[in-house]
Amino acid sequence: MKATFLTDSNAPLIIKEVEMPIPGEDHVLVKLAYSSLNHRDVWIQKGQYAGPKAGLILGSDGSGKVIQAGRNVDSRWVGKTVIINPSHNWGDNPAAFGDQFKILGNPDPGTFAEYIAVDVQYIHEKPEHLTDIEAAALPLAGITTYRALFTRARLKSGEKILITGIGAGTALLALQYAIAAGAQVYVTSSSEDKIERAKRLGATGGFNYKEQDWFIKAKQATGGFDVVLDSASGSGFGNLIETAKAGGRIVFFGGTDGPIGNIVPNKVYWRNLSILGTTMGTLEEFREMLAFTSAHEIKPIIDKVYPSLAEAQMAFDYMHEGKQFGKIVLTNQ
Ligand SMILES: NC(=O)c1ccc[n+]([C@@H]2O[C@H](COP(=O)([O-])OP(=O)(O)OC[C@H]3O[C@@H](n4cnc5c(N)ncnc54)[C@H](OP(=O)(O)O)[C@@H]3O)[C@@H](O)[C@H]2O)c1
Repeated sequence: MKATFLTDSNAPLIIKEVEMPIPGEDHVLVKLAYSSLNHRDVWIQKGQYAGPKAGLILGSDGSGKVIQAGRNVDSRWVGKTVIINPSHNWGDNPAAFGDQFKILGNPDPGTFAEYIAVDVQYIHEKPEHLTDIEAAALPLAGITTYRALFTRARLKSGEKILITGIGAGTALLALQYAIAAGAQVYVTSSSEDKIERAKRLGATGGFNYKEQDWFIKAKQATGGFDVVLDSASGSGFGNLIETAKAGGRIVFFGGTDGPIGNIVPNKVYWRNLSILGTTMGTLEEFREMLAFTSAHEIKPIIDKVYPSLAEAQMAFDYMHEGKQFGKIVLTNQ
């Protein structure tokens, strides 16, 4: 089969013919139709991620059709269009994953290939309201933002939330989930155009984080936020603390802008803020995320669909530039 291959850190991705995966007795073999990028894939290519740096088929998200079922798997899966939960081996503790945890696409072969063999426990029927392309864009951003908003930050209807860097695939899905949950959503972006587009999706307002005093304006205009959701971290993280109401929750799952800096301790403890880290989610949260997505007919926002796996490097470069508004998808042919 054809697969997109990482040969070394910082080396361009190549297309290679590799052996077809052989499904184990608890696995299904999926013919992938589409896959989507996550920033993680770009970090791995740049050598900025734990785990192997070469010899990998990357990709955590995909949709496609089951074409073969292992010996222990119900044969009724064959012919179904499915999506894959990329959060594997979470373990027994819902509060945090255990030491066997891994995310599909590193070290196990990922979705930037024509076929994938996956344990059936990670396979779910495609939600009916989604196209195959939208389904491929959902899993990783869906599980991450669902857990961040609802398990960790306990977002409630009527609360005010600030979501940073709204161009991100994760941030946009968080916007849609938060609106569906009845929250009032504000966003930040480096782009006025992205802020306007977020408002068209239901955001109440937005702030340009490139402006030095954006967080002062945000606090004045809104009275502060009950919840802040971030994936940038970096030196601007301290500004997010300024925007939170006393007793507020700041939840984050990424470090796009590097190490956190600029935190004044008493601004956190004196105001009883909670700073919450989160990553991916449990099997149960993945099921809840699918049910919530279906109940509210939420469709991930797609920025671009590339016509084949051969365009994978172009798609990675495009993600690295950060100009996207939503998910970047590859056609798996
Ligand atoms: N721990 C986990 O489970 C988990 C899961 C998913 C993602 N992540 C992490 O979360 C981050 C986002 O992932 P993604 O796949 O959604 O990425 P993505 O789609 O590539 O996100 C790109 C966006 O990041 C925003 N951004 C860049 N620098 C920023 C800054 N200084 N402040 C605020 N926003 C900034 C930009 O938004 P604007 O264009 O609007 O300015 C840009 O469009 C990555 O660091 C990723 O590794 C972690």
